Amino acid sequence: MPISPRIKKGVILAAGAGTRLTPATFPISKILLPVYDRPMIYYPLSSLISAGIRDILVITNESDLQNFKRAIGDGSRFGVKITYIIQYVQRGISDAFLIGKDFINGDPCVLILGDNIFCGDDIEKLMNEAACDTDNATVFVRYVNNPQDFGVAEFDSEGKVISLEEKPKHPKSNYAVAGMYFLPGDTYEKASVLKPSKRGELEITDLNALYLNEGRLRVKIIDDSSSWIDAGSFDSLLGASRFISETEKKLGTKVLCPETEALKKGFVTPDSVIEWANSNKDNSYFTKIKEFAEKMKKS
Ligand code: G1P
Repeated sequence: MPISPRIKKGVILAAGAGTRLTPATFPISKILLPVYDRPMIYYPLSSLISAGIRDILVITNESDLQNFKRAIGDGSRFGVKITYIIQYVQRGISDAFLIGKDFINGDPCVLILGDNIFCGDDIEKLMNEAACDTDNATVFVRYVNNPQDFGVAEFDSEGKVISLEEKPKHPKSNYAVAGMYFLPGDTYEKASVLKPSKRGELEITDLNALYLNEGRLRVKIIDDSSSWIDAGSFDSLLGASRFISETEKKLGTKVLCPETEALKKGFVTPDSVIEWANSNKDNSYFTKIKEFAEKMKKS
């Protein structure tokens, strides 16, 4: 039986100056600040793993490269391969496809922003569907009260997207485009023709608009059964910590840990996770992931 094509590469954009979060980000990248009990990058990394992605590029600032390596290493602990590349000049989200050219190598990929947290079984299902479409771009939208802070999708009466705008003063809908983009193999060509926006950035919204104009943009709606948090402001960062802590207490299990997501996917063995947990402090994070691995071992 032929194997159907599937997106196999992921990019985490973890660069950026983090100026919106100074002074918290004076010593360290925003994407390494803790969200509840782990560095922020654990969340987008977990999302990629849950979508079956094992080949991952992390784009960082020069000054934070070693810190990212301390946090997630080469990925082998999670059964994935992590490659790093430095973004020397902040040129916007779509620059990821230019500096990531060699890694992407003309293949379809998923780009996730380092400060975006996606949580819920439905999200996982939607991501897995999007990963199977290698010809079109797929974006995720969510109804929000502050669309002017995001990329915004406009829909026609039949629910088809007709425009995308980056942080419009007068948004044409309340649907914000979340920071996770499943894209076909021609991102380099598309990103190469983009012109910097008024704020001097190669916008992801402009890249997605190119797919929209070609009739190659698909949209998935994140409904109330799932959660999406852009943890890029003081309040949303605090809200993200509270949300993860409360969700885990409610469910009685950890969510969005790269170790447990990797276990669920069969990327690592329960024994390797138990060994990793044992080599660390016996705190609530490692006790819980060890419990999870032990349960998987028995089942
Ligand atoms: C970026 C994108 C925006 C998107 C948002 C999601 O904005 O430019 O289109 O809606 O991420 O988090 P930023 O938060 O980087 O300003």
